[in-house]
Amino acid sequence: MKSASHRFCVAPMMEWTDRHCRYFLRLISKATFLYTEMVTAEAVLYGDRTRVLGFSPQEHPVGLQLGGSDPAKLAAAAKIGADYGYDEINLNIGCPSDRVQSGRFGACLMAEPDLVAQCVAAMGEAAGLPITVKCRIGIDDQDAEESLDRFVDGVAAAGARTFIVHARKAWLKGLSPKENRDVPPLDYGRVSRLKARRPEIEIVLNGGIDSLASAMAHLGEVDGVMLGRAAYADPYLMAEVDRTLFSSDETPPSRLDVLDRFVPYVQDQLAHGARLNQMTRHILGLFHGQPRARAFRRYLAENAHLDGAGIDVLLAARRIIAREERTAIAAE
Ligand SMILES: Cc1cc2nc3c(=O)[nH]c(=O)nc-3n(C[C@H](O)[C@H](O)[C@H](O)COP(=O)(O)O)c2cc1C
Repeated sequence: MKSASHRFCVAPMMEWTDRHCRYFLRLISKATFLYTEMVTAEAVLYGDRTRVLGFSPQEHPVGLQLGGSDPAKLAAAAKIGADYGYDEINLNIGCPSDRVQSGRFGACLMAEPDLVAQCVAAMGEAAGLPITVKCRIGIDDQDAEESLDRFVDGVAAAGARTFIVHARKAWLKGLSPKENRDVPPLDYGRVSRLKARRPEIEIVLNGGIDSLASAMAHLGEVDGVMLGRAAYADPYLMAEVDRTLFSSDETPPSRLDVLDRFVPYVQDQLAHGARLNQMTRHILGLFHGQPRARAFRRYLAENAHLDGAGIDVLLAARRIIAREERTAIAAE
């Protein structure tokens, strides 16, 4: 089974990488691998499936990230994800939030490689798709050398072909989920050593990568990189990904092209009952660092959430940016 490349990925992020966000990011890079927000196996099994799993065909390649620790439930959820057309199922072993620990899944499972292996084996068998795992280098007072090796060896033997490693520990006591993304120190060397020890396993590095240049620097050591916050805050950093990392000969769209290609999608989603702000909140960073980006953001933030806000709000925000571009060209 040939799977899509993980050379450049955008991280699963709750509240952020929903279907609207992914559609938007796909307009900037065709080859970047995208992930859903984490969805619990229970939400897939018992929730509103169209809301939880629905996505547009344009989003491919896209992986469904599941959370859970019950092999039978995860297997059933993975099969449903496969039937929905996802390209891969990813298991979350990195999330440190309290809610997640109480359900016994997320990063606390770094200490239970045998259980994770059972989950991965059951998911792979049920879904018939690549099963990948997103983990940390360790938790709490685990020795990151020994515990990461033991975890990866056990879980790879159960059929996981790709590990996405957030290169810091999760400290499960005393830190909020947000602090757990910043406070435990990054240790890229630990991930490189994992790759060197198990060259046949695909290793994707995550954590603190904030530009295409730094992504490329890491790609000498690992098979792929995953960007989270930087890609969300400044999505246009992905514009050169296809040419630089995937040998595409297409000229990337300009920022305005991206906006213009998003407009028909927004119109269609509005017609199907979505609210404007659910879509425009993901594009606030499109003009990051550009003239009048702040005015663009402010206009959308102040207007897109209002009752009845329609496509005219997005088009007015476009005029704020486009006017400045014309002025800049005239001034040259
Ligand atoms: C708002 C937000 C939500 C997140 N939700 C998830 C999630 O659902 N699943 C997951 O595995 N990681 C989640 N993460 C962690 C990211 O996937 C990533 O591992 C982390 O942000 C480190 O990468 P970065 O430094 O490039 O942002 C989330 C991060 C953020 C900022």
